[in-house]
Amino acid sequence: MKQVLCSLAASASLLITCGPAFAQENAAPATNPAALKEAFDGCFLVGTAMNRWFIMDEVPGVLDFAASQFNAVTAENAMKWGRINPSKGDYHFGIADALVDYAEANDMAVIGHTLVWHSQTPDWVFENWRGQSVDRDTLLERLEQHMEKVAGRYSGRIHGWDVLNEAILDDGSWRDSPWRRILGEDYVATVFEMAHEADPQAELYYNDYNMYLPGKRDAVVAMVKDLQDRGVPIHGIGMQGHFGLDRPSVEDFTAALDAYGALGLKVMITEMDVTVLPWPETLEVGADISAAAENRQELDPYTAGLPDDIAQAQADQYAAFFRELVARRDFVSRVTFWGVSDADNWKNNFPVRGRTDHPMLFDRYLRPKPAFDAVMAEAGPCRAE
Ligand code: XIL
Repeated sequence: MKQVLCSLAASASLLITCGPAFAQENAAPATNPAALKEAFDGCFLVGTAMNRWFIMDEVPGVLDFAASQFNAVTAENAMKWGRINPSKGDYHFGIADALVDYAEANDMAVIGHTLVWHSQTPDWVFENWRGQSVDRDTLLERLEQHMEKVAGRYSGRIHGWDVLNEAILDDGSWRDSPWRRILGEDYVATVFEMAHEADPQAELYYNDYNMYLPGKRDAVVAMVKDLQDRGVPIHGIGMQGHFGLDRPSVEDFTAALDAYGALGLKVMITEMDVTVLPWPETLEVGADISAAAENRQELDPYTAGLPDDIAQAQADQYAAFFRELVARRDFVSRVTFWGVSDADNWKNNFPVRGRTDHPMLFDRYLRPKPAFDAVMAEAGPCRAE
């Protein structure tokens, strides 16, 4: 597997980094450890995100490995507007179709990601042929067509859709996205209603990063309450979960989980990773994918492998989160990792390109890390039920 993931990384076009041979290079090759999906079966789904090379089976072994560990799968990019419909009338469903087929063949829940977002949505959606902003009716029509084409195509096969991604800023104010500017303040209700019409069986989620910040949390709660009061279909809240060794605090994390759980909705961690790398001081902490900083040596300290003490700190952090998630298993319905292994996780390229991060439970050889054991050790209450 080492060869496989590293040769994949060598292909220049891939957003995957592969560290040099690690200290443990003589260790046994990857054997399938006990399965996350079985350990947490009595509590919640455990999912993974998959990039196109994995979905299209270009990296031998990964599809089987993922199916042995996870019972939910999200397309890392393949269902985003820009990938499915990059220019007007031009649709590319091949990778998304393959993902749904793979999931069904392996009894995995498919999570659709994402229908309405300000990022990775092509400019043409918001513009006319002269490059000017379209009016409300035109955008509503385009949105409705997108819902029908995408959510409608997979209707009945999707467990849940991230309907709306990242509509609220960290301070709790609305993001001034083209969606809100053009459709108006009440666009949130509209997008959930349209998604429900396109796929009446799918659970519908609001998804965002930094969901543990009190300002953002309170704004999300207020938004969802308003939707619920008006009978708008919404079934869950996704906390993306791009975490670090020192964030969020367990207090902020649990306060957010409980605030969302109190709404009577399902709560999910939808894109979990725990970066071990320093955050560039010039950037706000978060997952706004437009953020970027230059690479410098001191920002990339673990190119030769993950030191034991850092691996342990990461394991402790993962354990703390899972302990709280398991304790809330009556309303936590899924935890999805944003990738399969350290090799493919996006943090190798965000917010600094070309670093060697180690954010996942499996290393670049698909071997379980201390974080894997620590997470598994929290599964006891799930087995008891
Ligand atoms: C990321 C992907 O992992 C990258 O491959 C891509 O280049 C940018 O988007 N929040 C989200 C995800 O909701 O869709 C983002 O995924 C990460 C942040």
